[in-house]
Amino acid sequence: MTDVEIKKGLAGVTVDYTAISKVNPETNSLLYRGYPVQELAATQPFEAVALLLWNGELPDAEELRAFEEFERAHRDLDPAVRTAIDLLPLDAHPMDVVRTAVSVLGASAPAAEVADSSAAADLAKAKLLFAKVPAMVAYDQRRRRGEEIVEPRADLDYARNFLWMTFGEEPHEVVARAFAVSMVLYAEHSFNASTFTARVITSTTADLYSAVVGAIGALKGALHGGANEAVMHILDEIGSAENVAPWLDAALAEKRKIMGFGHRVYKKGDSRVPTMKAALDTLVEHYGAGDLAALYDALETEFVGRKGIYPNLDYPSGPAYHLMGFDTLTFTPLFVAARVTGWTAHIMEQAASNALIRPLSAYNGSDERHVEGYVAGEAEREVAERDEEAQ
Ligand code: COA
Repeated sequence: MTDVEIKKGLAGVTVDYTAISKVNPETNSLLYRGYPVQELAATQPFEAVALLLWNGELPDAEELRAFEEFERAHRDLDPAVRTAIDLLPLDAHPMDVVRTAVSVLGASAPAAEVADSSAAADLAKAKLLFAKVPAMVAYDQRRRRGEEIVEPRADLDYARNFLWMTFGEEPHEVVARAFAVSMVLYAEHSFNASTFTARVITSTTADLYSAVVGAIGALKGALHGGANEAVMHILDEIGSAENVAPWLDAALAEKRKIMGFGHRVYKKGDSRVPTMKAALDTLVEHYGAGDLAALYDALETEFVGRKGIYPNLDYPSGPAYHLMGFDTLTFTPLFVAARVTGWTAHIMEQAASNALIRPLSAYNGSDERHVEGYVAGEAEREVAERDEEAQ
């Protein structure tokens, strides 16, 4: 074996610059293009945050209006996408459904358009995906529940329309607000696994749709985006605040990972959690969900007390989406709808200053050996002879 230092999981490795976001574990802070994410969540619609991530600046009133007009005009579910979703079994995981739906959207677009990776063309595709993903997610939840599709409404903003298409009723202000906050918080987080996946795919000069489809695959795993779904399974399993201590005894004895806690970069707490927890608190009050809040607090107190490992964004967002009425399986596709902004911003950044991403590996397999009875051909003999002469 060669004597090289392996950075398992690329932990601690800096692979490139990015101007899109800054995660600072020392100060527990997250900046999108220089703005603290909490300030953006408190003051900006998700549509404006998307433009900030793509363009580097918050939009002026006219830029925002133009984007909102575009977004509202492209919210419908394309016929080809709907047909493809209808072909999938009802128990297909919603992440597989949204991954397939985005792939079908890309494959149905004119080939020349897909292949055009200019900055302007990629920005147009990013905006289209921003507008289209909610209809995919909402329709899939409805079909699994045996409900009819709900057409989008152009008089509602992104967050309200997303909830309208999912539930068929206009959301309460508290719910719309909490949902919009979650979208802003989930939008971007530097070189996380799915974003890095998107950048790797882009680095080969493959198209934006391919990169987003790959990113969705990476997001599905429970160590990444799938954690918001997994949090809800854990809370369901525990059942109530009184069960937390014995449940945790058993879970830790079995060396289980407690979903929604821990982070590769933040070790002293996730910068996004206080804002999402505040949004969750408003939902708890709105829905009168004191029992869930007690269970949430009890698990956090007990786990942080025992392990010193803090909640990440998935911990408050899982129960928040549950209270809003989303199926647990739909939680990670909601993350897709938000993170498609960050992914596409990174795809454009990678394309603008590209180098093929291709690391090295240290081989630790068997020594060279040969298939029994194999007789080397003329070309191989010549190479072997040349090698011998060169030595
Ligand atoms: N539950 C229990 N133990 C945990 C834990 C968790 N959620 N997160 C970390 N740990 C423990 C590990 O078991 C390990 O212990 P050890 O040193 O005794 O083996 C130690 O903390 C370091 O964890 P490790 O998984 O190596 O750190 P990482 O930086 O690779 O992990 C995560 C980051 C996110 C993968 C990890 O914290 C995790 O699996 N969390 C749960 C999934 C989750 O919520 N993901 C969403 C992230 S936003």
